[in-house]
Amino acid sequence: MAFLADSLKRIKPSATMAVTDKARALKAAGRDVIGLGAGEPDFDTPDNIKQAAIKAIQAGKVSKYTAVDGMPELKAAIIAKFKRENGLEYKPSQVIVGVGGKHVLYNTFMATVNPGDEVIIPAPYWVSYPEMVLLAGGTPVAVTTTIESGFKMTAEQLERAITPKTKWLILNSPSNPSGAAYTRDEVKALTDVLVKHPHVWLLTDDMYEHLVYDDFKFYTPVQVEPSLYERTLTLNGVSKAYCMTGWRIGYAGAAEHLIKAIAMIQSQSTTNASAVSQWAAVEALNGPQDFIPKHNAIFKERRDLCVSMLNQAKGLKCPKPEGAFYVFPSCEGAMGRTAPSGKKLATDEDFVTELLETEGVAVVHGSAFGLGPAFRVSYATATTSLKEACERIQRFCGNLR
Ligand SMILES: Cc1ncc(COP(=O)(O)O)c(C=O)c1O
Repeated sequence: MAFLADSLKRIKPSATMAVTDKARALKAAGRDVIGLGAGEPDFDTPDNIKQAAIKAIQAGKVSKYTAVDGMPELKAAIIAKFKRENGLEYKPSQVIVGVGGKHVLYNTFMATVNPGDEVIIPAPYWVSYPEMVLLAGGTPVAVTTTIESGFKMTAEQLERAITPKTKWLILNSPSNPSGAAYTRDEVKALTDVLVKHPHVWLLTDDMYEHLVYDDFKFYTPVQVEPSLYERTLTLNGVSKAYCMTGWRIGYAGAAEHLIKAIAMIQSQSTTNASAVSQWAAVEALNGPQDFIPKHNAIFKERRDLCVSMLNQAKGLKCPKPEGAFYVFPSCEGAMGRTAPSGKKLATDEDFVTELLETEGVAVVHGSAFGLGPAFRVSYATATTSLKEACERIQRFCGNLR
């Protein structure tokens, strides 16, 4: 009899982690590798946030369990954030704090998905959505977007994807991996469809909310369509905008009965998120926000650099996204060509493998995110390394026969 659970057969390991591991192994073997695979800012956590955590430790405020769903001070900071930045009103009983947004998502699917339930996921998507849905016993339904639509799902596509079995629609704007962000009108077109289908719940992953450029204005769906309030889970966290991926704090606001169910799962697994990290998150949300536009100015410069340099690479086409710290160029023009090693590139996975081996640049193939042939570049890395990496990509593409 097999020892491991059958549920493991439904899922696969994270491709983004696999690329990072491979790049690390090559580096350890002495190769000059530039990693553009990581989904986290290269900046350090701001000092005021670190100091708040240190103070909390010294004041003896972190020795004990906190409430499973988050300590009251952090819930208050989250409620104030939702009100201030999104115009959303939540009570403490409508807020959950987890060990990163990923944990909140996982618990949400565990708490709501039954076998046969469908979850609509626009592709390209963050690698973990379909895997979590599968683990929970549900069926991910990918809706493939196009480079022409800026990797955004249209209202018609959403309408076509909805069935009586649809439980959730996941929207992630700005998106990992494409960086695409929906304008207010584009959000409205989708929420108009949802209004017609009251059995479909909306999970909006606003993790990259603050990382938008060129005066783009972010709107969370419930702000645009308040009637969806009762059936929307609004997910956010401190990982990306506050450079706190290692601290592991994510949160969500939703209807009280859903939050209760999520908290029940959490109470039987992790209990509360780390108390130190919760105090740090209080400072992140309540403290000065002035480093965000400073970081964004740097990210915007890097995005523009990548878009310009990658569009000059033979066979690549790189749209300019509105946000996050990713670009998602198509490498369709490189398919069928031959790498210096003699390998004929049949897939985007071949492209990224050869790129890593020939030029030492680590990126993640687009098909891992449900859309290829393409690849994801994370520009959350020092600008000089990024420039060098783009030069290497240009050389790699130029050397394909
Ligand atoms: C789209 C998206 N959602 C959620 C997360 C989860 O972030 P965390 O668990 O660090 O809060 C990530 C992290 O990569 C992400 O890219």
